[in-house]
Amino acid sequence: MTTTAVATPVVQFVDVQKAFGGNKVLVDVSLDVRPGFTGLIGPNGAGKTTCLNVVSGYLQPDAGDVRLAGQSVLGRAPMEVARMGVSRTFQTPRLIPNLSAVENVMVGGSRHYRHGHLAELLGLPSARRDERVQRERAYALLEELGLDHPDRAANAFPVGSQKIIEVARALLNDPVLLLLDEPAAGLGAEDVDRLVNGLNAWTARNPEAAVMIIEHDLELISRLCPTAAVLHFGRIITSGAPKDVLRDPVVVEAYLGADVAAGD
Ligand SMILES: Nc1ncnc2c1ncn2[C@@H]1O[C@H](COP(=O)(O)OP(=O)(O)OP(=O)(O)O)[C@@H](O)[C@H]1O
Ligand SMILES: [Mg+2]
Repeated sequence: MTTTAVATPVVQFVDVQKAFGGNKVLVDVSLDVRPGFTGLIGPNGAGKTTCLNVVSGYLQPDAGDVRLAGQSVLGRAPMEVARMGVSRTFQTPRLIPNLSAVENVMVGGSRHYRHGHLAELLGLPSARRDERVQRERAYALLEELGLDHPDRAANAFPVGSQKIIEVARALLNDPVLLLLDEPAAGLGAEDVDRLVNGLNAWTARNPEAAVMIIEHDLELISRLCPTAAVLHFGRIITSGAPKDVLRDPVVVEAYLGADVAAGD
């Protein structure tokens, strides 16, 4: 009998449960995420953002486990999880309004380049060199993702562009797991193309990294993701190739039901 070695998933959700009061938001969520893009889709309120929050240390699950390369992230603060190689963006961008786009990217820092705060405070050459390298990388990432005017203040950009700045900030950390919460919301078609090209270029250079992407733009999910998982009322109801998943009657029903409930 031959066996094929299957690498440990980059991240594993194991029977994760989360409730807010009586509202059961995640119900026994189990999912293995491997290198490359994985889509996380589902109607409004399905629990998608909560999934990202339990991986990135922003929320602790009530039960179950979340493992990064086999190691549990439970009980760790967001900063600690970030140092393990998890970077994220937020559904509503969280930038420092008066700093430029490129400076906001640099705030993310990189877990690989830091010589420590003391070196920075003392203005040591190692810290200055780090800063120069980080600045160049930040410009390059913004260009690759299609953001023009990187020296402009963050609050001068529309929300869609602010999301791109967050993606660049997340990438500067050299993540092994990148979590994107609706990165294309508010972007025009041309900017979506630039974002897709930038993300594809980054994953081509980082083939070991996994990207979990939440999007309501299902065409974008189909373009980027070989696999998509569908959350509905806190349960993963199916996962597979987007073209199959989106034809699944249970998924169609979930989306149509949500539209009817929302009065669309
Ligand atoms: N911190 C919180 N406290 C209380 N309830 C919360 C909290 N975070 C999320 N919820 C609730 O959990 C449910 C799932 O929210 P979540 O943000 O994960 O959904 P989502 O799938 O990301 O939705 P959307 O597509 O609208 O962003 C919702 O009913 C929401 O109101
Ligand atoms: Mg959300």
